[in-house]
Amino acid sequence: MDLGTDIDEILVDFEAGVLTLRMNRPEKKNALIGPMYTRMAELMEAANHAADVRVILLTGSDAVFSSGNDVASFTSAEKDASGEVPSLRFLNTIAHCEVPLVAAVNGYAIGVGTTLLLYCDLVIAGEEAVFQTPFIDLGVAPEAGSSYTLPLRVGPQRAAEMLLLGERYSAQQALDWGLVNAVYPADRFQEEALMLTRKLASKPPASLRATKKLLRASLLQTIDGVMQAENVEFARCMQSPEFTEAISAFMERRAPDFSRC
Ligand code: COA
Repeated sequence: MDLGTDIDEILVDFEAGVLTLRMNRPEKKNALIGPMYTRMAELMEAANHAADVRVILLTGSDAVFSSGNDVASFTSAEKDASGEVPSLRFLNTIAHCEVPLVAAVNGYAIGVGTTLLLYCDLVIAGEEAVFQTPFIDLGVAPEAGSSYTLPLRVGPQRAAEMLLLGERYSAQQALDWGLVNAVYPADRFQEEALMLTRKLASKPPASLRATKKLLRASLLQTIDGVMQAENVEFARCMQSPEFTEAISAFMERRAPDFSRC
């Protein structure tokens, strides 16, 4: 497969059928910005058409997966060269990705760092992984289709808890709730995830893609509409004083005060 043009924030490796995408913006805890979304979307789109890509492994550094969307660029409506908003293009692409996706997660997996996992077929966590969907405390609404995919993955009551309270959950809790498939010590999770991807990559490729397609078929009938509805709510929330207060509080490193909103 043609790997395109490198950017520093996404490290790419392709070996023995496994395409590895590694988020790499350590100074911002792998917070996602436009070029990162675009690069990952382009690679997934290319992988869909590349028979030699058997599995995609999505990961961060050993200590942090991703702190989610870059808070400073939340309101950016900047479009990429294809005329699309990078985050929306990425989410649409990962939701419809035809290649089996494995995620290897340790450290913070916040916001889209958690919700993108709901499109990964298998998720391996390090025991220091921390999962959080803090949209409520940012004055926004669930995104990435998570108002639909999270209840599917963990059950409606647990999803309500995660989305209404926005608290943090440990790797063990995520395992108990079915958010991840397995938890390993932090110094082993990457290696275990790689072994898993190699095992998948050795399976009959057409059968692998067909199995993924069937597992996702009912989700794909619904997810585009869910994301559209979420985008409407999210955009409305971003106009609110709550959102302004939440973002100011993050920037000023203080607790938000929603009492006057
Ligand atoms: N967007 C933009 N910058 C971010 C970021 C994000 N999502 N997450 C972390 N950063 C930046 C911090 O502002 C800080 O930058 P600075 O050194 O220039 O001040 C740097 O990354 C390190 O983060 P810091 O907060 O000092 O690290 P920490 O270990 O104390 O906490 C987090 C890490 C991830 C728990 C914390 O940064 C955080 O809560 N981030 C926001 C998560 C979030 O709300 N994401 C959006 C979800 S929709």
